Amino acid sequence: MSARRTDEPAGGLLRGIVERHRLARGPLLPILHDVQREAGWIDDRTIDLVADELNLSRAEVHGVASFYTDFRREPSGGTVVRVCRGEACQAVGGEEIHAALLAGGGGAVTVDQIFCFGNCALGPSVEVDGTLHGRVSVGDLPELITGPTGAAPDAA
Ligand code: FES
Repeated sequence: MSARRTDEPAGGLLRGIVERHRLARGPLLPILHDVQREAGWIDDRTIDLVADELNLSRAEVHGVASFYTDFRREPSGGTVVRVCRGEACQAVGGEEIHAALLAGGGGAVTVDQIFCFGNCALGPSVEVDGTLHGRVSVGDLPELITGPTGAAPDAA
């Protein structure tokens, strides 16, 4: 499943997300995760609105959104690929995958790093638009990113 991305994640989308979690214990992280998943990133306006809705300071919300690498603070370009650079994945080729993605420079791919998906036994691990893949090789990357026909995964 591909995350929907917008240029403006705040507004109506956010109000629905806040209502879904308002009564939860510690609603900030679930709200930010839902905004990230549904909008693809967390903008300054979202930070302000979440702070207002939860009666938190802007600094508190900004601090959480900036601390966790799961939260993107600017729109991503196209397919988001997250490569595990944890030790178990490094030992089986994760660094080569990361380097190949950075060197690729082709098309709209945003490359992020993570330091363990909890999928160590099946490394190297790579997540493409939210779907985790194990035992990935550099040769698998084109198909994982563009799909088996060469078309973008969402183009069908
Ligand atoms: S080190 Fe890569 S999934 Fe754990």
